[in-house]
This record gives sequence, C-alpha cells and structure tokens, in this order.
Amino acid sequence: MLTLSQPDDWHLHLRDGDALSTTVAHTARVFARAVVMPNLKPPVATVEQALAYYDRINAAIPLGNNFQALMTLYLTEQLTPEEVHRAKAQDRIHAIKYYPAGATTNSESGVSELESVYACLETMSEVELPLLIHGEVTDPRIDIFDREKVFIETILEPLTLKFPELKIVLEHITTKDAVDFVKQQSENVAATITPHHLMFNRNDLLAAGVRPHFYCLPILKRNTHQIALIEAATSGNPKFFLGTDSAPHDVKTKENSCGCAGIYSAHAALEFYAEVFEKHGALNKLEGFASFFGADFYRLPRNKARVTLSKRTSTVPANFKLGDGTLIPMRANETIAWHVDEITQ
Ligand code: DOR
Ligand code: ZN
Repeated sequence: MLTLSQPDDWHLHLRDGDALSTTVAHTARVFARAVVMPNLKPPVATVEQALAYYDRINAAIPLGNNFQALMTLYLTEQLTPEEVHRAKAQDRIHAIKYYPAGATTNSESGVSELESVYACLETMSEVELPLLIHGEVTDPRIDIFDREKVFIETILEPLTLKFPELKIVLEHITTKDAVDFVKQQSENVAATITPHHLMFNRNDLLAAGVRPHFYCLPILKRNTHQIALIEAATSGNPKFFLGTDSAPHDVKTKENSCGCAGIYSAHAALEFYAEVFEKHGALNKLEGFASFFGADFYRLPRNKARVTLSKRTSTVPANFKLGDGTLIPMRANETIAWHVDEITQ
C-alpha cells in the first residue's frame, strides 16, 4: 500500500463539449487540480474565453468532487500585455502556453516570430505568470527526432538569457538534452514528464509495425533518452514534475493514414507513474514528483487530501466514449499493477 498527498496534473488536454464528461471525470477521480491546455478550435486566447471554458469544465465535474481546473491562455501574436495583466488578476488563470506555429495538434494559431510576443513575455516575467512551452522547432529540414534538442539550442537557451526572471515550464520533455538543460538552469525553469515518455520509447511506436496509439508529439525517442527521463523523474529534483499530456483523439483520427498525435492516459495516470517509480526502486520519490514540486513551482498550496494506492491488478478497458466517438486509452486491454483505492480529505 502507498499513501501520498493528493497529486495534481500540470499538463492536461480535456477538449470541450461532450468529451468533457469522460475526460474531466477521469482526471478528477485522482487529481486535485490540473493545468488545462488551451489548444481548442478556436484556441483559448483571451481571458473571456478561458473563463467561459472554465465554466464548461466545471459543469462536467462529478457531483461532490472538488477538482479545480487551472486555466491557461494560448499565446498568439495578437495577445497584448494588457490581456496578460487581466489574466494575472484572475485567480483561475495560471499560465500562458507557447506553441510554435505548426508544431502539433491545433497549433496553427501559435507563434511564428518570438520577437512579436516579447512585450507579453516581459509582462509575464514582471507579474510572475509562467510560460509553458511546447519545445520543438517546426523547420521541415530538421529531423523529427532532433526537434526538441534544436529548439533548446536555438530558441529556449536565448529566451532564458533574454528573460532570466520568466518562469518557464518546458512541457513533456523527451530527451536527455532537455533533462541536462533544465538541470543547469535557475529555479525559474522546470519541466513536466509524461507517463508515456517514461514507459515507452520509439521501438514501441515503430519496431513491431506502426502503432498509431503510441504516436504523440514530441515523438517517442530512443531508449537512452527514456532512461534519462526516468532518472530525472525519480531523482527527487524539484525541477521535474508530473504532467500527463493526456490527449484524447477519436479512434478514427488515430487509426488513419495521417493519424493525430496524442496518447490518452488520464484513466490511470497515477497508476502508470506508480508502476514506473516502483520498477526503478523509487516509490519514495513519487510524492514529490506527483504532489509537491509542481505546486511549489506555481506557488500554489500543496494539497491536504491523501490518496491511497494498493497493488491490485485490473484490466484497462478496450475503449471509452469520447462525445459521439470512441477513444482508445493507453494500455487498452492490458493489466495494470496499481489501483487508487481512496481519497481522504
Ligand atoms: O501528442 C500530443 N498531443 N502532443 C501535443 O503537443 C498536443 C496533444 C494534443 O492536443 O492532442
Ligand atoms: Zn500537451
């Protein structure tokens, strides 16, 4: 048995509309709070849109559950410093997400020229509103497996030098290069790590046939990078914390000649992390990673409730409903070792 302070998910896609009844229930089953990504169509780019989205999420929270959505704005070249101030003044908005235009799902409205948002970054730095980064270059000449490394060298490092006070989360890191970079930075720079990048590598995606349900961005890398991520997550270093990047897509758009990027893990996210930490003899480091370091970085109180997990096997369902469609969850039809038994307030 394992008891932890209730965890938070610092990077999550809930989508919208009918999808919310599935996605919100799964995350709220275990997590107290989650940072909700703004890459809807159209993107959540203004305070008004973020507050309306918050209300739609809230309406989908199961009765009696106190799950809290931590909203983000989508960084567009139209965002103004005034809107950044308005966002900061809201206790519901906690960060701004930077997608390089074209890097991933619904990133078309993202930033092409970083200089065009410098005024907003300056304001975010002043008011202490974190910048969450999808760290991949989009240049088609750069190999997909190198896009995170090149982003760090050409965009992120200069950005940290220009804005040393800006709080930055490099989201869903996938490489040893990212681990090393984040470790070297000041306490203003941190990173989230997903369960899928801890559990899988590119062989899972490609070595036994093309497996579209393992396709995500940044793409799974070779196993030496996976090992570096496991070491970072289980090290107790507070710069690395839990962010699932759980990203539901309808099965028809995943099992497709041009499949979408995204792995859905919200149905058993904490259980997946527990499995990784146990396998690497680090269950005693799970609470810091899952429940403390993210809250500390965002300067939010740590959760008081406790969750209890036990070693009890269960089988992941073959699929879940996603609005009118269906999603295939991570480890569908497979056995998982841990089970969240209860949450005590
Ligand atoms: O795999 C991914 N899916 N990576 C992202 O950056 C976006 C996400 C999504 O929204 O589906
Ligand atoms: Zn994401």
